[in-house]
Amino acid sequence: MGIRVHSCGIAVPDKVVTNDDLSARLDTSDAWISERTGIRERRVGGTTTGLATEAGRAALERAGLQPADIDLLLLATTTPDALVPASSTTVQHALGTGGGAIDLNAACSGFVYGLVTAAGLAAVGARRVLLIGADTLSRITDWDDRKMAVLVGDGAGAVVVEPVDGPGDLLSWNLGADGGLRHLLYCDHGGYLFMDGKEIFRKAVRIVVESAEKALADAGMTAGDVDVFVPHQANLRIIQAAGQRLGIPAERTAVVIDRYGNTSSASIPLALADAIQNGQAKPGARMLLCGFGGGMTWASAVLRWGG
Ligand code: UT7
Repeated sequence: MGIRVHSCGIAVPDKVVTNDDLSARLDTSDAWISERTGIRERRVGGTTTGLATEAGRAALERAGLQPADIDLLLLATTTPDALVPASSTTVQHALGTGGGAIDLNAACSGFVYGLVTAAGLAAVGARRVLLIGADTLSRITDWDDRKMAVLVGDGAGAVVVEPVDGPGDLLSWNLGADGGLRHLLYCDHGGYLFMDGKEIFRKAVRIVVESAEKALADAGMTAGDVDVFVPHQANLRIIQAAGQRLGIPAERTAVVIDRYGNTSSASIPLALADAIQNGQAKPGARMLLCGFGGGMTWASAVLRWGG
């Protein structure tokens, strides 16, 4: 038994914050932000559950499904709206989905961790999983700290995961974690996000390449077989460096960081939705999804897009 993954829906807040908006109140500039990160603007506002609900509803509509057709809602998020209850239950109630609801926190690797978890749940009988990646990093960011404020944005993306007979479309996966690297990226209760950007940058490129290569090897593929590379959107320079080392050209790489900044668990489904919309990811496309982030965690999946 395998899975089929389809019907990507997204949600982003209406409010656009440009680099110039930030430069007006912080010691930074459009030139610094766009050259060092590739970010030009980001969306800010809303709640994690609100954005997750909107993205989940869009995915259900695209799939032509009723909420009751879902028997498990899986929400990948680093910024739940409350410690209790789980944000997934709030989304479950808002949408009216059936079955259980689970929060999953693997920072910016959350969506790919969620995909692998959904595949496991499908294998033990879940008929349809609504997988959502949603984050509002803006709420745990110190907007007076130029190092973090220029990087983050809010958003959500969702897909439907269903079991199918045969090997299915999740061709391989690779998950990893090293809690010994906690000090590089963390946010304690009531505090703000802290990141050692330089060190994370160095580690991220190596980790993404190693994890992606393992996943590709397990799928019996090489970088040349990848139709669309969908990396976590933390920094355009990380995306480019990883793509170059893997041997995947820019035209086969999904990039939305210019419009959304770093949206953590939402960044991969936001990039996936964009790749679908601009024709990069057609039904049947072989995609390499790669996440990395706080923990540190990392995650790769080779996936055939179900349309
Ligand atoms: O999502 C999960 C994981 N996150 C990441 O993967 C992020 C990884 N890291 C990065 O993307 C980059 O390290 C950053 C974008 C965070 C920083 O870029 P950098 O090229 O590593 O810059 P830096 O931290 O080395 O800073 C260079 C200079 C410093 O000034 P001095 O010491 O050279 O005088 C900073 O103080 O740039 C300064 N700086 C800024 N200047 C203008 C730092 N932030 C800003 C800013 N505007 N916003």
